[in-house]
Amino acid sequence: MTPFFGKIISNESAGMGLRTLVIEAAPAFEEGVCPGQFGHIKVPNAPQHLLRRPISIMDADSANKTLTFCIQPKGNGTELICAMKPGDEVELIAPLGHGFSLDEAKNVWLIGGGIGAAPMVYTAKQFSKTADVVAITGSRSAEGVIARDVFESVCKHFVVCTDDGSCGIHGTVVAGAASIGGKPDLICACGPTPMLRAVQAFALEHDIPCQLSLEQHMGCGYGACLTCSCKTRDKDGHEDYSRVCADGPVFDAREVVL
Ligand SMILES: Cc1cc2nc3c(=O)[nH]c(=O)nc-3n(C[C@H](O)[C@H](O)[C@H](O)COP(=O)(O)OP(=O)(O)OC[C@H]3O[C@@H](n4cnc5c(N)ncnc54)[C@H](O)[C@@H]3O)c2cc1C
Ligand code: FES
Repeated sequence: MTPFFGKIISNESAGMGLRTLVIEAAPAFEEGVCPGQFGHIKVPNAPQHLLRRPISIMDADSANKTLTFCIQPKGNGTELICAMKPGDEVELIAPLGHGFSLDEAKNVWLIGGGIGAAPMVYTAKQFSKTADVVAITGSRSAEGVIARDVFESVCKHFVVCTDDGSCGIHGTVVAGAASIGGKPDLICACGPTPMLRAVQAFALEHDIPCQLSLEQHMGCGYGACLTCSCKTRDKDGHEDYSRVCADGPVFDAREVVL
């Protein structure tokens, strides 16, 4: 949880205004990096932005000690992060949060909507070492399909879904999942809340274990400020609140109230 400075190794376009940043991050590897964890990145040269910005770890290279992030500029904070150049240094805390857990699953579907496909890259790489992985991603159009080469090389099957039908299935990721047939041992999903709600309903209806990665505005990023609270339910059905940063961002689908 100690902040460190990492040098920007590269900053490249990933289409549709997205940027892929590779950052030197040796301290992140001291305790290992799990799929679905995130980095909390300080906005550079911007004292007006006190809060760091949470960004999922898209990939982690333990040999070169680098982390990769895919960032969609939304407001001034992410715009300034995306404007950094190779050689610049940025302050970050990583890895943070609880990520996806394969448990004993042998047949996994990874579902990513929009920028939610980014954390599925490292997840697919790690899980495909011991399980059959199917990746299903959703984007507005063909141009928004990210990391196609990685998903095609490590997954047993890669299903692309687009809103405009310009590539793959013309429809949502749930339509993509339904098109596969069969039933996985585990579904892991990350994306906008309406998509997570649909995946949660699909998993509960088909009695499939499911883990969902939630997004929430964050303050501290490590459990101290409660800015990121979300409603959860314990196994007896009682509602409570959890912290997305420290208890998540990945939760069991039976636990979250969306
Ligand atoms: C665990 C986690 C992982 C994330 N991973 C990624 C990622 O891999 N790539 C990526 O591009 N973004 C990711 N985000 C979202 C990213 O953190 C926000 O887009 C960013 O903080 C916005 O900051 P800003 O200064 O650019 O925008 P602001 O000026 O703060 O806000 C601009 C717009 O973005 C919305 N926004 C702000 N924070 C969030 C948020 N946390 N979630 C959703 N919308 C938000 C605001 O409501 C507003 O409409 C993640 C968020 C979380 C919580
Ligand atoms: S962001 Fe502070 S508790 Fe989660």
